[in-house]
Formats: sequence, structure tokens, C-alpha cells
Amino acid sequence: MLYTLIHTIHIFAVFIYGGFLFTDNLFIAKMKQSLSEDEHTKAREAIMMHVRKVVPKALIVAVISGMYLFTQVFGKISPEGFSTFQIALSIKAFLGLWLGFRGVNQVFFGIQPWVFKSHIFPFILVVIIIFLSQFMFLDFTSF
Ligand code: HEM
Repeated sequence: MLYTLIHTIHIFAVFIYGGFLFTDNLFIAKMKQSLSEDEHTKAREAIMMHVRKVVPKALIVAVISGMYLFTQVFGKISPEGFSTFQIALSIKAFLGLWLGFRGVNQVFFGIQPWVFKSHIFPFILVVIIIFLSQFMFLDFTSF
């Protein structure tokens, strides 16, 4: 029951965080094509003032709920070594934690990331994380 609850919270948090990155990269960034520089700055700020209140918190919820899920599903490492599930989940968790670390530093401590400043980088990471979160469940030994 607790697992299902936290899993649902994880999905909602990821929807809010990932959803913003999809919207920003696919649509908001395109506003430049039809608005003047000044209009674009104003329109973007009108959206970002609400984004800043919600999205960073959603990222933190995603990371904390993800850490709980991780402890529940990772399982024992067998004598033969890591399973493909454990490897894919570890990569997914690492990328998620990196995004969380990067986001918290940026939003709460004002430390700008010195590599990959645009939102395209977290967007690509989220896409990779989503793929990993689905394909990690495949049993590659049965192919
Ligand atoms: C922004 C960062 C993150 C994104 C975008 C993300 C995305 C996702 C998605 C889309 C799923 C699949 C949900 C489903 O199919 O039902 C998932 C599941 C999962 N995530 Fe995350 N996640 C993030 C951070 C983390 C972190 C930091 C961890 C661990 C430290 C983590 C651990 C897990 C685990 C263990 C599952 C599997 C749950 C299950 O199906 O039983 N996630 N995540």
C-alpha cells in the first residue's frame, strides 16, 4: 500500500517536472518565432513566475520518492553480479539524483550549472530516464 502510494506520488512529481521540460522545449521556446524580444521576455516571465513556485519542489519530491522506491525494488545483488534491472535502475537513479542536485543548487542556492545551461540538457536526461524506467523491467536473458 505504502509502495503504491509513493509510486503514485513519484509519477505525479515526474509528470510536473518532466511535463514542464517538454512544454518549455517543445512550445515555450518557440514563442520567439512570433513575438518580439520584449514580448517574449514578458510572456516567458509570466509563465516562469508560476513555474518557479511548483517545478523545483516537484523535482525534490521526485528524488525523495524515487529514493524510497529504489530501496524497495533494487533487491539483493546475486553472486553472479548485478542484474540488467539493477544496472538500468542504478543508471536511472544516478541521472535522477544528478538532476535533483543540479536543480536544488540552481533554484535554492543560486548556483548556475557551468555545463549545459539550457533546459535542453535536463530534457534529454528526462527522456533517457523515462526509457530506462520502462526498459529496465525487460528480461534481456530471454531474447
Ligand atoms: C527527475 C528525476 C526522475 C524522473 C524523471 C523519474 C521518472 C520515472 C518514471 C517515468 C518511472 C516509471 C513509473 C512507472 O512506469 O510506473 C519511474 C520509476 C521509478 N523511479 Fe524514478 N524518476 C526520477 C528520479 C528518480 C530517482 C532519483 C530515483 C532513485 C534514487 C528513482 C527511482 C525509481 C524507481 C525505483 C522506480 C521504479 C518503480 C516501480 O515501477 O516499481 N527515480 N521514475
